[in-house]
Amino acid sequence: MSSKRDFLTIWDLTADEIECLLKRAIELKSGADKNKCPLIGKSIGIFFEKPSTRTRVSFEVGIYQLGGQSIYLNPREIQLGRGETIADTARVLSRYLNGIVLRTYSHASAEEFASHATVPVINGLSDLHHPCQALADLMTILEKKGKLNGIRLAYIGDGNNVANSLIEASALTGMNLTIACPEGYEPDPDVLENARSKAASEIIVLRNPKEAAGRADVIYTDVWVSMGQEDKAEKKKAKLRDYQINGQLLHCAKNDAIVLHCLPAHRGEEITDEVMDGPNSAVFDQAENRLHTEKALLEFLIR
Ligand code: CP
Ligand code: NVA
Repeated sequence: MSSKRDFLTIWDLTADEIECLLKRAIELKSGADKNKCPLIGKSIGIFFEKPSTRTRVSFEVGIYQLGGQSIYLNPREIQLGRGETIADTARVLSRYLNGIVLRTYSHASAEEFASHATVPVINGLSDLHHPCQALADLMTILEKKGKLNGIRLAYIGDGNNVANSLIEASALTGMNLTIACPEGYEPDPDVLENARSKAASEIIVLRNPKEAAGRADVIYTDVWVSMGQEDKAEKKKAKLRDYQINGQLLHCAKNDAIVLHCLPAHRGEEITDEVMDGPNSAVFDQAENRLHTEKALLEFLIR
């Protein structure tokens, strides 16, 4: 039996493992172990069905910095695009590669791929989860606030993949999470129910963004229209219009609240320039932390 570990959702790591991983990411960011190359002689596939700036580049650079090689696989340029099955692709790629980072439309495809791969599979975003993003979010909150347990996090907007992974990350680390979203745009109900059954902290879903932002240490948002939802764009934007993070909403949070966004941002929609470029914004540190957390994750998973 293979002893490989995948990272498809936050629950694939324990609370202790996440704590160690964040500590390690902070160490790597400080420049420690610059010359340590645990991936020397190893190759990692990057198989992405959707566009990416941060995830692709941070993984490719991280793999290089750890001494390994990354191979970008565009589904249109491999036989999967001509009908080879996910299962056969996963089996074959496992014979060459030491790990695979996936970005798929459907989370079920990521699960199917992982179930047939004999090397670790990392979810670099699916329609349901974005766990690598959540690791960088946790690191940023820890750096800026000094702790996770007891932090009040407000997520304002669409209950999407990023929100789902934040729910799981909050449950695992003891952050109190309040999500404000319009009716019909709630996070995944199974993700929510499962996280609530495991969480010691509060995970609340409500409608009023000001109520969610009240006394928050961290305010978080994401785009209103995720990749693959372009056909629903106008309806979603109309529904989410009152969920913008602007100066007025930020005013409801604590004075020293930080603002996070996984990026890419649609400035003027879910977030204003004033907030994104303002003194509370930590979005570019958050983007940088993708690199450090992914290096810590690769070190942990790829043996
Ligand atoms: N936040 C994030 O995953 O960005 P990309 O889509 O650019 O990878
Ligand atoms: N929710 C967004 C996140 C992009 C990083 C999407 O899935 O498009």
